[in-house]
Amino acid sequence: MAPSEPPSPPRPAKRPLGADPEAWDEAYRADAFARLHGLREAPRYGIIAAWLRHVVPDDGHVLDAGCGEAALFRHALRDRPGVAYTGFDLSQVALDTARAIIGPAAADRVRLIRTGLADFAPPDGAQRFDAVVVTEVLSYSAESVSWLDRYRAWLTPEGAMVITMQRPRRPDSGANRPFAAFLTAMEGPDWTVLDAASLSNPLTRNAWELRLVR
Ligand SMILES: C[S@@+](CC[C@H](N)C(=O)[O-])C[C@H]1O[C@@H](n2cnc3c(N)ncnc32)[C@H](O)[C@@H]1O
Repeated sequence: MAPSEPPSPPRPAKRPLGADPEAWDEAYRADAFARLHGLREAPRYGIIAAWLRHVVPDDGHVLDAGCGEAALFRHALRDRPGVAYTGFDLSQVALDTARAIIGPAAADRVRLIRTGLADFAPPDGAQRFDAVVVTEVLSYSAESVSWLDRYRAWLTPEGAMVITMQRPRRPDSGANRPFAAFLTAMEGPDWTVLDAASLSNPLTRNAWELRLVR
């Protein structure tokens, strides 16, 4: 009889990310979100970029809530040199990478702030944004959808919010609750849906729901 394999050591449990800045810093140090800059995320940012072309004038201002490493800037705003960009995130490690990715040539139109979705307020209270983008941020906290309402107050009169969520794949995923809350909120009376898209990738079997709302 062949000698039996020694049991493999238990995998270290993944640290839950939630709204814990240190957990996010650790994940970014491990380069856990490098894929967001890659080919297979491009269609999601492509839809967002197309919507932003419609709602953000060439001298407009975009707020990227939970901007991470500013993949949105790279995919959708680098070629719009008149558009100002404010990004905020819980992770300073992500923001440092974002600054490097954005680069010195665009630095004068960019502001990066370390804070959370529940706490953000424009540093200049009078600031208004043509678009607020919340992409792939809501899955990590059960109550995240309830934080969105405040952001409407900071939109210009013609401004809009882009909100996207990846469809959870596991029935026991913690993302199921915020995902259901997102779909319910978008169907309810509080939000006007200007456009909607469902995106799926048959290669990776990832799927996303995207909404343009105010
Ligand atoms: C999957 S990444 C997406 C990053 C970016 N929005 C994108 O699509 O390129 C999720 C990001 O959301 C941020 N995040 C999660 N919960 C947050 C919260 N409560 N407040 C602010 N940022 C949050 C994380 O730090 C992380 O950078």
